Amino acid sequence: MHRTHTCGELRLEHQGQDITLSGWVQRSRDLGGMTFIDLRDRYGITQLVFNMEEDAALCEQARKAGREYVIKVSGTVRERSNKNPKMPTGDVEVQVKTYEVLNAAQTPPFTIEDDTDGGDELRMQYRYLDLRRRNVQEKLILRHKLAIATRSFLDGAGFLEIETPYLIKSTPEGARDFVVPSRMNPGEFYALPQSPQTFKQLLMVAGYDKYFQIVRCFRDEDLRADRQPEFTQIDCEMAFAEQEDILTVFSGLTAHLFKAVIGADLPDFQRMDYATAMEKYGSDKPDIRFGMEFKDCAPFAKGHGFNVFDQAEAVLGIVAPGCAEYSRKQLDALTNWVKRPQIGAKGLVYIKYLGEHSVKSSVDKFYSPEALEAWCKGIGAKPGDLVLVLSGDLNPVRKQLGELRLHMGRELGLRDPKVFAPLWVVDFPLLEWDEEEGRHFAMHHPFTSPKPEDVHLLENEPGKARANAYDLVINGVEIGGGSIRIHDRELQARMFDILGFTAEEAQAQFGFLMNAFEYGAPPHGGIAFGFDRLCSLLGGSESIRDYIAFPKNNSGRDVMIDAPAPIDAEQLKELALKTDLPG
Ligand code: AMO
Repeated sequence: MHRTHTCGELRLEHQGQDITLSGWVQRSRDLGGMTFIDLRDRYGITQLVFNMEEDAALCEQARKAGREYVIKVSGTVRERSNKNPKMPTGDVEVQVKTYEVLNAAQTPPFTIEDDTDGGDELRMQYRYLDLRRRNVQEKLILRHKLAIATRSFLDGAGFLEIETPYLIKSTPEGARDFVVPSRMNPGEFYALPQSPQTFKQLLMVAGYDKYFQIVRCFRDEDLRADRQPEFTQIDCEMAFAEQEDILTVFSGLTAHLFKAVIGADLPDFQRMDYATAMEKYGSDKPDIRFGMEFKDCAPFAKGHGFNVFDQAEAVLGIVAPGCAEYSRKQLDALTNWVKRPQIGAKGLVYIKYLGEHSVKSSVDKFYSPEALEAWCKGIGAKPGDLVLVLSGDLNPVRKQLGELRLHMGRELGLRDPKVFAPLWVVDFPLLEWDEEEGRHFAMHHPFTSPKPEDVHLLENEPGKARANAYDLVINGVEIGGGSIRIHDRELQARMFDILGFTAEEAQAQFGFLMNAFEYGAPPHGGIAFGFDRLCSLLGGSESIRDYIAFPKNNSGRDVMIDAPAPIDAEQLKELALKTDLPG
C-alpha cells in the first residue's frame, strides 16, 4: 500500500497511529541528531522526523533525499513539541520507521514554492513542476469547482449537456479559423469551431429546448492576457425564450457561481444600453465599480480661442475626486501615459479645482478663472477635484478617456478585486461598418436578430438597426455574450445579403442552418460565458493563463511540448499538402 493517509490529513487525533504516507520532498533539514523532511502532496505538507539515535542507517538514507524526490514512509504519528499553527498538520509529525525512495529527482529548475524564483518562460517549459505549487493548484481547484457548480445549477434548471463536433467547416465570419487537413478528402479541410453556435441552434430546431456545454473553442486571433487560442465557454441556448428569460436565468447562474465558488453575494445586476455605456464610459464593457462618468465639456471649452478645442469634434472630461493637489510630476506622468502609442491621445488638459474661486489649469492662457470655475461647476466637480480633459474625434476620444478613467480608478484604489459589479449591456448595434473592407460586419454574429422595431431599418439604414444582443460585464471584463437569434429563413437570408454574401455563397456556407429553419424552428436565444475569464475574475487574477493547466504563450506556442511544429514530408504528402515531393 502506498499510503494510508494524505499529507494534509493528520491531526492530533491520529496520535499513536501507525500510518504510511507517500509524496514529494518539499525540503529537508539536518539538525545533527535529527533529520526533518517536509513531505508534500496536493493535500498539504506533513513533517517527518528521522532520529539518529533510534535508527542511524535510516537517518543517513533520509539525508540523501533531495528536493522533489518521491518517497514513501511508514511510522507513528506523534505530537510535535514545536507546533506550527500556520499548517493544518502543524500539531503533529511522523516518527519514521521505514523509508523508501519511489523515484529520485533532479534538482528542479526553480523552487516549488508560492514565491518561486522561476521566470514565466521557464515555468511554462516545466509546467508540470509549476503545477505542483500550491497557489497554482488552488487556481485549478477553483476551476474544477466552477465547472461542477455550473453543471449542478444548469442540470437543476433542466438544461441538458450535449456535445457538438470539433471537426467542422470553416466560415468566413468572426476570427480566423484553425484548420485541419482531411487525409480521406485530399485538398479539403475541417475547421475547429470558434464556438458551437450553429450546432446549438440546430439542437433548438431538434427540440432540445435547454442546452448547455462546457466546451473548448478555438480562435486564431492575436493573444492578450484575457485571450487564449483555445479557451473554454459555458455555452447555453434556450428555445421559446425571450431576452428577459435569458437575462433572468443567467443572472441566476452567475449569482450561484459566485456564491458556490467563493462565497460572494453579488449585488443586483444593473442594466445599461450600449449607447449609454459608450457615452458615459467610452466602452461597451464599463467597470461600474466606480463613477467618474464622462462629462461633455464642449459647452465650456469652445469659443474661447483655444484652437484645439474649437476644432475638435468632441471635448470630454472626467472628474478625479480629491486630486486637485496633484503635483506637476504626477500630471506630467498622466500626460505621458495618455500619449503612449497604446492610448494615442495628443495631449491632456487639466483643471485643478483648488477651492472656491481658485482654479489652476494647463490652459490658463485661454480661459479666465471665472470661465474655468464655471466649467468645473458645470460638469459637477467639487473644490478639491481634478478635471481631466481630452479632445478630438468622438470615437478615439471616448476610447482614450475610457482608458484614462480605468487608469485613474486603479490609481485611486477604486477597483477593488473583491468588489463585484455585474452589468448587462443591452441593445448593441446589429452591424458595424468596416472602413477597410467597405462593408458591414455583424457586431455579435450573423445569426443575431434585429430588434423587431428596427427590422424596417434593414432596407435603407441597416447601420442604425439595434440587435437583440446582450453582454454580461463584471468589473470591466466581458464575461459573456449572447443574443436572441433569427429563426426565419427569409430574415437570415436578408442578413447574409446585408453582410455582402451572394445568395449562392450564403447557401453554400450556411444552407444547412437556413434549410433547418424551414422545418419548424422555434424562437430561440442563448449566451456563452468565457469560462477561463470567469475563473480569473473569481480568483482575483488578471490573466486567464493561470487557470488553464497547459496554456499557450503570447505567440500561441506551447513551450513545454514545443508546439506548433513542422510535420514530416510523408505526413504532408499523405495529407495532400505538398505534391512536389519525390516519389
Ligand atoms: P463570443 O464570441 O462573445 O460569443 O464569446 C463568448 C465569451 O467567450 C469569451 N472569449 C474568450 N475567452 C478567452 N479567450 C478568447 N480568445 C475568447 N474569445 C471569447 C468571452 C466572451 O464573452 N457563440 C457566441 C455566444 C452566443 O451568441 O451565444 C460567442 O461565441 O468571455
